[in-house]
Amino acid sequence: MLRLQQVHAGYGGSEVLSGVDLLLREGEVVTLLGRNGMGKSTTIHCIMGQLACRSGSIVFDGCELNDLPAFRRARLGIGWVPEERHIFPNLSVQENLQVAAANFASAQQPWTLQRVYQLFPRLQERVQHAGNQLSGGEQQMLAIARALMINPRLLILDEATEGLAPLIRQEIWRVIEQLKQQGLSILIVDKHIKTLLQLADRYYLMEKGQVVSSGEASQLAQDAGLQARYLGV
Ligand SMILES: Nc1ncnc2c1ncn2[C@@H]1O[C@H](COP(=O)(O)OP(=O)(O)OP(=O)(O)O)[C@@H](O)[C@H]1O
Ligand SMILES: [Mg+2]
Repeated sequence: MLRLQQVHAGYGGSEVLSGVDLLLREGEVVTLLGRNGMGKSTTIHCIMGQLACRSGSIVFDGCELNDLPAFRRARLGIGWVPEERHIFPNLSVQENLQVAAANFASAQQPWTLQRVYQLFPRLQERVQHAGNQLSGGEQQMLAIARALMINPRLLILDEATEGLAPLIRQEIWRVIEQLKQQGLSILIVDKHIKTLLQLADRYYLMEKGQVVSSGEASQLAQDAGLQARYLGV
């Protein structure tokens, strides 16, 4: 479904990604791991068209993404929950969801307000609240719900549980697990390695802009040495 080959990218004079290779098959949950500043978010920015690749290729569903502007990539069916959430502060919960609503990927069972409220009952209690009146956890739920409203076939989550209270974090994990059960393809970056490796099928481990290890998530879960070396856990 998604294939990155030898992706190079950077900011100004500095190269941040030095030949990233990554593959995600339909229905898979793949996690991208690595310590701070190793290039996880930069890789996602390249997939979403927030940052241009200097060389290499990114193919989604047979379509070369490097030729497409960011909005066309979303239309192909890639939903993105950015690290910074990007909630519209002055729009209500409902309006935040409605501006994203689309059926570009002509899903057979499209996401509706009703379906996302079922997934996040807490959002339904806050429908009329403005984005900036929500707690951090509620904003994160809204960011995920909004990404679902474009009916993605691939959902990309960047640090969706960062800085949240344990109960809210559990709620987010529950939803991601549910989306996986529904067959959604997911690329996920998160710092809660233990939960993440239970959820994911496969992992890619990044170090200084390159993939240094990849394989079955269950294998990494058992490899304390590899985790210590590249993740400091
Ligand atoms: N807008 C930017 N301008 C210049 N350098 C940047 C910019 N964004 C990121 N970088 C640099 O690129 C490198 C990779 O950053 P990136 O955000 O991809 O890391 P990350 O793996 O997502 O880290 P974290 O776990 O902290 O989110 C870092 O050295 C960072 O300082
Ligand atoms: Mg990041």
